[in-house]
Amino acid sequence: MVKPLAVPAVVLSLRTFFTKRTFFPLNPETSFFTLSPKPPNPQPSSEKFNMPSVSGQTVCVTGAGGFIASWMVKLLLEKGYTVRGTVRNPGKIETQTCFYDPKNSHLRNLEGAEERLTLCKADLLDFESLRLAINGCDGVFHTASPVTDDPEEMVEPAVIGTKNVIVAAAEAKVRRVVFTSSIGAVTMDPNRSPDTVVDESCWSDLEFCKNTKNWYCYGKAVAEQAAWDEAKERGVDVVVVNPVLVMGPLLQPTLNASVIHVLKYLNGSAKTYANSVQAYVDVKDVALAHILVYETPSASGRYLCAESVLHRGDVVEILAKFFPEYPVPTKCKDETKPRAKPYNFSNQKLKDLGLEFTTVKQSLYETVKSLQDKGHLPIPTQQQDHESIIRIQS
Ligand SMILES: NC(=O)c1ccc[n+]([C@@H]2O[C@H](COP(=O)([O-])OP(=O)(O)OC[C@H]3O[C@@H](n4cnc5c(N)ncnc54)[C@H](OP(=O)(O)O)[C@@H]3O)[C@@H](O)[C@H]2O)c1
Repeated sequence: MVKPLAVPAVVLSLRTFFTKRTFFPLNPETSFFTLSPKPPNPQPSSEKFNMPSVSGQTVCVTGAGGFIASWMVKLLLEKGYTVRGTVRNPGKIETQTCFYDPKNSHLRNLEGAEERLTLCKADLLDFESLRLAINGCDGVFHTASPVTDDPEEMVEPAVIGTKNVIVAAAEAKVRRVVFTSSIGAVTMDPNRSPDTVVDESCWSDLEFCKNTKNWYCYGKAVAEQAAWDEAKERGVDVVVVNPVLVMGPLLQPTLNASVIHVLKYLNGSAKTYANSVQAYVDVKDVALAHILVYETPSASGRYLCAESVLHRGDVVEILAKFFPEYPVPTKCKDETKPRAKPYNFSNQKLKDLGLEFTTVKQSLYETVKSLQDKGHLPIPTQQQDHESIIRIQS
Protein backbone atom coordinates (compact mmCIF):
# COMPACT_ATOMS: atom_id res chain seq x y z
CA MET A 1 0.00 0.00 0.00
CA VAL A 2 1.27 3.44 -0.83
CA LYS A 3 1.77 5.46 2.31
CA PRO A 4 0.24 8.95 2.28
CA LEU A 5 2.98 11.51 1.97
CA ALA A 6 3.38 14.34 4.38
CA VAL A 7 3.45 17.53 2.34
CA PRO A 8 5.65 20.21 3.87
CA ALA A 9 4.23 23.70 4.28
CA VAL A 10 6.46 25.16 1.60
CA VAL A 11 5.23 22.72 -1.02
CA LEU A 12 1.68 23.53 -0.07
CA SER A 13 2.42 27.21 -0.52
CA LEU A 14 3.82 26.58 -3.97
CA ARG A 15 0.91 24.31 -4.80
CA THR A 16 -1.61 26.93 -3.72
CA PHE A 17 0.35 29.44 -5.70
CA PHE A 18 0.24 27.42 -8.91
CA THR A 19 -3.37 26.42 -8.46
CA LYS A 20 -4.64 29.92 -7.88
CA ARG A 21 -2.15 31.62 -10.18
CA THR A 22 -1.96 34.55 -7.83
CA PHE A 23 1.21 36.54 -7.84
CA PHE A 24 3.33 36.32 -4.71
CA PRO A 25 6.69 38.00 -5.05
CA LEU A 26 9.64 36.67 -3.18
CA ASN A 27 10.75 38.40 -0.12
CA PRO A 28 14.33 39.26 -1.09
CA GLU A 29 15.43 39.36 2.53
CA THR A 30 14.49 35.77 3.26
CA SER A 31 15.20 32.28 2.00
CA PHE A 32 14.18 30.86 -1.38
CA PHE A 33 10.93 29.52 -0.12
CA THR A 34 9.48 32.38 1.82
CA LEU A 35 6.65 33.87 -0.14
CA SER A 36 5.04 37.10 0.93
CA PRO A 37 1.83 38.59 -0.43
CA LYS A 38 2.13 41.40 -2.93
CA PRO A 39 -0.24 44.36 -3.02
CA PRO A 40 -2.86 43.91 -5.75
CA ASN A 41 -1.52 46.89 -7.69
CA PRO A 42 2.25 46.50 -7.99
CA GLN A 43 4.17 49.70 -7.43
CA PRO A 44 5.09 51.29 -10.76
CA SER A 45 8.72 50.55 -11.42
CA SER A 46 9.80 54.18 -11.72
CA GLU A 47 8.58 54.71 -8.15
CA LYS A 48 11.11 52.17 -6.87
CA PHE A 49 13.66 54.88 -7.31
CA ASN A 50 11.94 58.08 -6.32
CA MET A 51 12.56 60.06 -9.49
CA PRO A 52 10.80 63.34 -10.14
CA SER A 53 8.42 63.53 -13.07
CA VAL A 54 9.73 65.09 -16.28
CA SER A 55 7.62 66.76 -18.89
CA GLY A 56 8.43 68.69 -22.00
CA GLN A 57 11.53 66.65 -22.89
CA THR A 58 11.64 64.48 -25.97
CA VAL A 59 14.00 61.52 -26.04
CA CYS A 60 14.73 58.90 -28.68
CA VAL A 61 15.04 55.21 -27.76
CA THR A 62 16.56 53.06 -30.51
CA GLY A 63 15.29 49.48 -30.89
CA ALA A 64 12.25 50.47 -28.80
CA GLY A 65 10.48 47.12 -29.09
CA GLY A 66 13.37 45.08 -27.60
CA PHE A 67 13.44 43.52 -24.13
CA ILE A 68 15.43 46.26 -22.36
CA ALA A 69 14.27 49.19 -24.50
CA SER A 70 10.58 48.38 -23.92
CA TRP A 71 11.13 48.85 -20.19
CA MET A 72 12.99 52.08 -20.85
CA VAL A 73 10.09 53.37 -22.96
CA LYS A 74 7.63 52.36 -20.23
CA LEU A 75 9.54 54.13 -17.46
CA LEU A 76 10.24 57.22 -19.58
CA LEU A 77 6.53 57.55 -20.42
CA GLU A 78 5.62 57.06 -16.75
CA LYS A 79 7.96 59.93 -15.93
CA GLY A 80 6.32 62.25 -18.43
CA TYR A 81 8.85 62.21 -21.27
CA THR A 82 7.76 62.34 -24.88
CA VAL A 83 9.39 59.32 -26.54
CA ARG A 84 10.37 58.60 -30.11
CA GLY A 85 11.08 54.90 -30.42
CA THR A 86 12.83 53.49 -33.47
CA VAL A 87 11.73 50.11 -34.86
CA ARG A 88 12.89 48.24 -37.94
CA ASN A 89 9.97 46.40 -39.42
CA PRO A 90 7.00 48.58 -40.09
CA GLY A 91 3.49 47.25 -40.13
CA LYS A 92 0.88 49.84 -40.85
CA ILE A 93 2.13 53.17 -42.17
CA GLU A 94 0.84 56.03 -40.06
CA THR A 95 2.59 59.04 -41.56
CA GLN A 96 5.41 59.33 -44.06
CA THR A 97 8.11 58.53 -41.53
CA CYS A 98 6.32 56.97 -38.55
CA PHE A 99 5.02 53.43 -38.32
CA TYR A 100 3.32 50.87 -36.11
CA ASP A 101 4.59 47.27 -36.12
CA PRO A 102 2.23 44.57 -34.80
CA LYS A 103 5.31 42.98 -33.18
CA ASN A 104 5.65 46.18 -31.15
CA SER A 105 1.98 46.45 -30.21
CA HIS A 106 2.89 46.17 -26.51
CA LEU A 107 4.41 49.64 -26.76
CA ARG A 108 1.14 51.16 -27.85
CA ASN A 109 -0.57 49.77 -24.74
CA LEU A 110 1.85 51.48 -22.35
CA GLU A 111 0.47 54.19 -20.12
CA GLY A 112 0.97 57.57 -21.83
CA ALA A 113 1.82 55.97 -25.21
CA GLU A 114 -1.19 57.31 -27.01
CA GLU A 115 -0.28 60.89 -26.18
CA ARG A 116 3.52 60.79 -26.01
CA LEU A 117 4.97 57.84 -27.95
CA THR A 118 5.81 57.89 -31.65
CA LEU A 119 7.39 54.91 -33.40
CA CYS A 120 9.73 55.73 -36.27
CA LYS A 121 11.12 53.32 -38.84
CA ALA A 122 14.90 53.24 -38.63
CA ASP A 123 17.69 50.79 -39.37
CA LEU A 124 21.10 51.15 -37.74
CA LEU A 125 22.80 51.09 -41.14
CA ASP A 126 20.53 53.79 -42.55
CA PHE A 127 21.87 57.11 -41.29
CA GLU A 128 19.05 59.19 -42.75
CA SER A 129 16.40 57.19 -40.89
CA LEU A 130 18.25 57.71 -37.60
CA ARG A 131 18.75 61.39 -38.33
CA LEU A 132 15.01 61.86 -38.82
CA ALA A 133 14.22 60.02 -35.58
CA ILE A 134 16.82 61.87 -33.47
CA ASN A 135 16.36 65.37 -34.92
CA GLY A 136 14.56 67.58 -32.37
CA CYS A 137 15.26 65.27 -29.41
CA ASP A 138 16.80 66.39 -26.11
CA GLY A 139 18.44 63.04 -25.47
CA VAL A 140 19.07 59.62 -27.00
CA PHE A 141 19.09 56.13 -25.49
CA HIS A 142 20.96 54.00 -28.00
CA THR A 143 19.98 50.44 -27.16
CA ALA A 144 19.35 48.81 -30.57
CA SER A 145 21.93 46.21 -31.51
CA PRO A 146 21.98 42.75 -32.96
CA VAL A 147 22.42 40.14 -30.22
CA THR A 148 24.15 37.28 -32.00
CA ASP A 149 27.50 35.53 -32.40
CA ASP A 150 27.27 35.63 -36.20
CA PRO A 151 30.08 38.05 -37.12
CA GLU A 152 28.38 39.32 -40.27
CA GLU A 153 25.10 40.06 -38.56
CA MET A 154 26.74 41.44 -35.43
CA VAL A 155 29.74 43.63 -35.99
CA GLU A 156 28.81 46.05 -38.76
CA PRO A 157 25.33 47.06 -37.50
CA ALA A 158 26.62 47.37 -33.92
CA VAL A 159 29.63 49.51 -34.83
CA ILE A 160 28.40 51.53 -37.84
CA GLY A 161 25.00 51.90 -36.19
CA THR A 162 26.59 53.37 -33.06
CA LYS A 163 28.65 55.83 -35.10
CA ASN A 164 25.52 56.82 -37.04
CA VAL A 165 23.62 57.48 -33.82
CA ILE A 166 26.41 59.64 -32.37
CA VAL A 167 26.72 61.64 -35.61
CA ALA A 168 22.93 62.17 -35.73
CA ALA A 169 22.97 63.13 -32.03
CA ALA A 170 25.75 65.64 -32.68
CA GLU A 171 23.75 67.22 -35.52
CA ALA A 172 20.67 67.41 -33.31
CA LYS A 173 22.76 68.90 -30.47
CA VAL A 174 21.21 66.55 -27.91
CA ARG A 175 21.95 66.98 -24.21
CA ARG A 176 23.29 63.46 -23.70
CA VAL A 177 23.48 60.03 -25.37
CA VAL A 178 23.18 56.98 -23.13
CA PHE A 179 24.70 53.98 -24.89
CA THR A 180 23.79 50.41 -23.92
CA SER A 181 27.05 48.51 -24.01
CA SER A 182 27.55 45.13 -22.31
CA ILE A 183 29.58 43.12 -19.86
CA GLY A 184 30.89 41.60 -23.11
CA ALA A 185 32.96 44.77 -23.53
CA VAL A 186 34.35 44.38 -20.00
CA THR A 187 35.26 40.85 -18.90
CA MET A 188 36.65 39.00 -21.91
CA ASP A 189 40.27 39.22 -20.83
CA PRO A 190 42.25 36.01 -20.35
CA ASN A 191 44.96 37.88 -18.45
CA ARG A 192 42.71 39.22 -15.72
CA SER A 193 43.80 37.81 -12.37
CA PRO A 194 41.18 35.86 -10.36
CA ASP A 195 41.54 38.45 -7.58
CA THR A 196 40.64 41.40 -9.81
CA VAL A 197 37.47 43.21 -8.89
CA VAL A 198 35.70 43.66 -12.22
CA ASP A 199 34.62 47.27 -12.57
CA GLU A 200 34.32 50.06 -15.13
CA SER A 201 38.09 50.17 -15.69
CA CYS A 202 38.16 46.68 -17.25
CA TRP A 203 38.04 46.22 -21.03
CA SER A 204 37.68 43.02 -23.05
CA ASP A 205 40.67 41.94 -25.13
CA LEU A 206 39.63 42.21 -28.78
CA GLU A 207 42.13 39.60 -30.01
CA PHE A 208 40.87 37.15 -27.40
CA CYS A 209 37.24 37.80 -28.46
CA LYS A 210 38.21 37.17 -32.10
CA ASN A 211 40.26 34.06 -31.37
CA THR A 212 37.46 32.55 -29.32
CA LYS A 213 34.89 33.60 -31.96
CA ASN A 214 33.00 35.60 -29.37
CA TRP A 215 31.62 37.97 -31.97
CA TYR A 216 28.91 39.44 -29.76
CA CYS A 217 31.49 40.58 -27.19
CA TYR A 218 33.81 41.73 -29.96
CA GLY A 219 31.04 43.75 -31.64
CA LYS A 220 29.92 45.35 -28.37
CA ALA A 221 33.47 46.25 -27.34
CA VAL A 222 34.28 47.80 -30.73
CA ALA A 223 30.91 49.59 -30.78
CA GLU A 224 31.48 51.03 -27.31
CA GLN A 225 34.97 52.19 -28.28
CA ALA A 226 33.48 53.76 -31.43
CA ALA A 227 30.91 55.58 -29.28
CA TRP A 228 33.66 57.07 -27.09
CA ASP A 229 35.84 58.04 -30.08
CA GLU A 230 33.04 59.53 -32.18
CA ALA A 231 31.61 61.41 -29.19
CA LYS A 232 35.00 62.89 -28.35
CA GLU A 233 35.53 64.02 -31.92
CA ARG A 234 32.08 65.61 -32.21
CA GLY A 235 31.71 66.94 -28.67
CA VAL A 236 28.77 64.72 -27.71
CA ASP A 237 28.14 63.93 -24.04
CA VAL A 238 28.01 60.12 -23.85
CA VAL A 239 27.43 57.94 -20.80
CA VAL A 240 27.60 54.14 -21.05
CA VAL A 241 25.73 51.42 -19.18
CA ASN A 242 27.32 47.93 -19.23
CA PRO A 243 24.65 45.42 -18.22
CA VAL A 244 25.44 41.79 -17.46
CA LEU A 245 22.98 39.06 -18.48
CA VAL A 246 19.55 40.66 -18.19
CA MET A 247 16.44 38.80 -17.08
CA GLY A 248 13.10 39.68 -15.51
CA PRO A 249 9.58 40.20 -16.79
CA LEU A 250 9.04 40.64 -20.53
CA LEU A 251 6.89 43.42 -21.93
CA GLN A 252 7.35 42.32 -25.55
CA PRO A 253 5.44 39.33 -26.95
CA THR A 254 8.54 37.65 -28.43
CA LEU A 255 11.50 35.93 -26.78
CA ASN A 256 14.94 37.54 -26.65
CA ALA A 257 18.32 35.86 -26.24
CA SER A 258 18.96 36.49 -22.54
CA VAL A 259 15.54 35.26 -21.48
CA ILE A 260 16.07 32.07 -23.50
CA HIS A 261 19.08 31.53 -21.21
CA VAL A 262 16.55 30.98 -18.38
CA LEU A 263 13.84 29.29 -20.47
CA LYS A 264 16.17 26.51 -21.65
CA TYR A 265 16.52 25.29 -18.04
CA LEU A 266 12.74 24.93 -17.71
CA ASN A 267 11.44 23.57 -21.02
CA GLY A 268 13.66 20.50 -21.24
CA SER A 269 15.96 21.84 -23.96
CA ALA A 270 19.00 21.93 -21.60
CA LYS A 271 19.71 18.47 -20.19
CA THR A 272 22.77 19.61 -18.25
CA TYR A 273 24.19 22.90 -17.03
CA ALA A 274 27.63 24.30 -17.84
CA ASN A 275 30.47 24.45 -15.33
CA SER A 276 30.68 28.22 -15.63
CA VAL A 277 29.63 31.44 -13.96
CA GLN A 278 27.48 34.29 -15.16
CA ALA A 279 26.57 37.72 -13.80
CA TYR A 280 22.88 38.65 -13.67
CA VAL A 281 20.74 41.78 -13.36
CA ASP A 282 17.04 42.56 -13.58
CA VAL A 283 15.63 44.32 -16.64
CA LYS A 284 13.80 46.98 -14.63
CA ASP A 285 17.05 47.90 -12.89
CA VAL A 286 18.82 48.14 -16.26
CA ALA A 287 16.13 50.49 -17.57
CA LEU A 288 16.31 52.58 -14.38
CA ALA A 289 20.09 52.72 -14.61
CA HIS A 290 19.84 54.23 -18.10
CA ILE A 291 17.39 56.90 -16.94
CA LEU A 292 19.43 57.66 -13.82
CA VAL A 293 22.62 58.27 -15.76
CA TYR A 294 20.68 60.39 -18.27
CA GLU A 295 19.15 62.55 -15.56
CA THR A 296 22.17 62.94 -13.30
CA PRO A 297 24.23 65.82 -14.70
CA SER A 298 27.40 64.62 -12.94
CA ALA A 299 27.11 61.07 -14.32
CA SER A 300 30.04 60.20 -16.56
CA GLY A 301 31.96 57.30 -18.04
CA ARG A 302 30.81 53.69 -17.77
CA TYR A 303 28.39 52.11 -15.29
CA LEU A 304 28.62 48.38 -14.63
CA CYS A 305 25.05 47.13 -14.12
CA ALA A 306 25.18 43.82 -12.23
CA GLU A 307 23.47 42.33 -9.19
CA SER A 308 25.33 39.08 -8.60
CA VAL A 309 27.55 36.44 -10.17
CA LEU A 310 26.31 32.87 -9.89
CA HIS A 311 27.48 29.46 -11.00
CA ARG A 312 24.96 27.85 -13.36
CA GLY A 313 24.52 25.20 -10.67
CA ASP A 314 23.16 27.91 -8.35
CA VAL A 315 20.77 29.13 -11.04
CA VAL A 316 19.26 25.69 -11.67
CA GLU A 317 19.03 25.10 -7.93
CA ILE A 318 17.00 28.31 -7.46
CA LEU A 319 14.77 27.45 -10.41
CA ALA A 320 14.21 23.88 -9.22
CA LYS A 321 13.26 25.05 -5.74
CA PHE A 322 10.78 27.62 -7.00
CA PHE A 323 9.43 25.56 -9.87
CA PRO A 324 9.96 21.86 -9.11
CA GLU A 325 7.41 20.78 -11.75
CA TYR A 326 9.71 21.72 -14.64
CA PRO A 327 12.51 19.44 -15.92
CA VAL A 328 15.33 21.61 -14.55
CA PRO A 329 18.72 19.92 -15.19
CA THR A 330 20.45 18.47 -12.15
CA LYS A 331 23.74 17.41 -13.76
CA CYS A 332 26.76 19.52 -14.59
CA LYS A 333 28.06 19.06 -18.15
CA ASP A 334 31.63 19.00 -16.96
CA GLU A 335 31.79 17.55 -13.47
CA THR A 336 35.37 16.33 -13.83
CA LYS A 337 36.83 19.86 -13.68
CA PRO A 338 36.80 21.92 -10.46
CA ARG A 339 33.69 24.03 -10.09
CA ALA A 340 34.17 27.47 -11.73
CA LYS A 341 34.40 30.26 -9.17
CA PRO A 342 32.39 33.50 -9.36
CA TYR A 343 34.48 36.62 -9.99
CA ASN A 344 34.37 39.71 -7.80
CA PHE A 345 32.77 42.82 -9.22
CA SER A 346 31.73 46.30 -8.17
CA ASN A 347 28.37 47.92 -8.89
CA GLN A 348 29.19 50.79 -6.55
CA LYS A 349 28.94 53.51 -9.21
CA LEU A 350 25.25 52.78 -9.80
CA LYS A 351 24.59 52.29 -6.09
CA ASP A 352 26.10 55.71 -5.50
CA LEU A 353 23.49 57.12 -7.88
CA GLY A 354 20.82 55.51 -5.68
CA LEU A 355 20.03 52.32 -7.59
CA GLU A 356 18.85 49.48 -5.37
CA PHE A 357 19.27 46.21 -7.22
CA THR A 358 16.55 43.55 -7.37
CA THR A 359 17.90 40.25 -6.06
CA VAL A 360 18.72 37.57 -8.62
CA LYS A 361 16.27 35.18 -6.92
CA GLN A 362 13.38 37.61 -7.28
CA SER A 363 14.37 38.34 -10.85
CA LEU A 364 14.57 34.65 -11.79
CA TYR A 365 11.18 34.09 -10.20
CA GLU A 366 9.61 36.99 -12.10
CA THR A 367 11.19 35.83 -15.34
CA VAL A 368 9.51 32.44 -15.06
CA LYS A 369 6.14 33.93 -14.09
CA SER A 370 6.36 36.24 -17.08
CA LEU A 371 7.29 33.39 -19.43
CA GLN A 372 4.19 31.58 -18.20
CA ASP A 373 1.98 34.64 -18.56
CA LYS A 374 3.19 35.30 -22.12
CA GLY A 375 2.57 31.68 -23.13
CA HIS A 376 6.23 30.70 -23.59
CA LEU A 377 6.08 28.12 -20.79
CA PRO A 378 3.12 25.88 -19.97
CA ILE A 379 1.55 26.56 -16.60
CA PRO A 380 1.77 23.41 -14.50
CA THR A 381 -1.49 21.60 -13.89
CA GLN A 382 -2.55 20.33 -10.47
CA GLN A 383 -1.61 16.81 -11.61
CA GLN A 384 1.92 17.91 -12.43
CA ASP A 385 2.08 19.71 -9.11
CA HIS A 386 1.10 16.51 -7.35
CA GLU A 387 3.77 14.53 -9.17
CA SER A 388 6.39 17.08 -8.28
CA ILE A 389 5.37 16.95 -4.64
CA ILE A 390 5.88 13.21 -4.66
CA ARG A 391 9.24 13.67 -6.40
CA ILE A 392 10.37 16.06 -3.69
CA GLN A 393 9.39 13.61 -1.00
CA SER A 394 11.13 10.57 -2.45
N1 LIG B 1 19.74 41.16 -22.69
C1 LIG B 1 20.98 41.11 -22.17
O1 LIG B 1 21.33 40.20 -21.43
C2 LIG B 1 21.95 42.22 -22.48
C3 LIG B 1 23.10 42.32 -21.69
C4 LIG B 1 24.01 43.34 -21.96
C5 LIG B 1 23.76 44.24 -22.97
N2 LIG B 1 22.64 44.11 -23.73
C6 LIG B 1 22.43 45.08 -24.80
O2 LIG B 1 21.15 45.67 -24.63
C7 LIG B 1 20.60 46.04 -25.89
C8 LIG B 1 19.22 45.46 -26.03
O3 LIG B 1 19.28 44.06 -25.88
P1 LIG B 1 17.97 43.20 -25.59
O4 LIG B 1 18.34 42.10 -24.71
O5 LIG B 1 16.85 44.09 -25.23
O6 LIG B 1 17.77 42.56 -27.03
P2 LIG B 1 16.53 42.53 -28.04
O7 LIG B 1 15.27 42.33 -27.31
O8 LIG B 1 16.94 41.55 -29.07
O9 LIG B 1 16.55 43.99 -28.64
C9 LIG B 1 17.46 44.39 -29.61
C10 LIG B 1 16.81 45.50 -30.40
O10 LIG B 1 17.76 45.96 -31.38
C11 LIG B 1 17.09 46.09 -32.60
N3 LIG B 1 18.00 45.92 -33.74
C12 LIG B 1 18.83 44.89 -33.98
N4 LIG B 1 19.49 45.09 -35.14
C13 LIG B 1 19.06 46.30 -35.62
C14 LIG B 1 19.35 47.06 -36.78
N5 LIG B 1 20.23 46.64 -37.70
N6 LIG B 1 18.71 48.23 -36.95
C15 LIG B 1 17.81 48.67 -36.05
N7 LIG B 1 17.48 47.99 -34.92
C16 LIG B 1 18.11 46.82 -34.73
C17 LIG B 1 16.04 45.01 -32.60
O11 LIG B 1 15.03 45.35 -33.50
P3 LIG B 1 14.04 44.26 -34.13
O12 LIG B 1 12.95 44.11 -33.10
O13 LIG B 1 13.60 44.90 -35.37
O14 LIG B 1 14.83 43.01 -34.34
C18 LIG B 1 15.58 45.05 -31.15
O15 LIG B 1 14.58 46.00 -30.97
C19 LIG B 1 21.61 45.55 -26.93
O16 LIG B 1 22.45 46.64 -27.24
C20 LIG B 1 22.40 44.49 -26.19
O17 LIG B 1 23.69 44.33 -26.72
C21 LIG B 1 21.73 43.12 -23.53
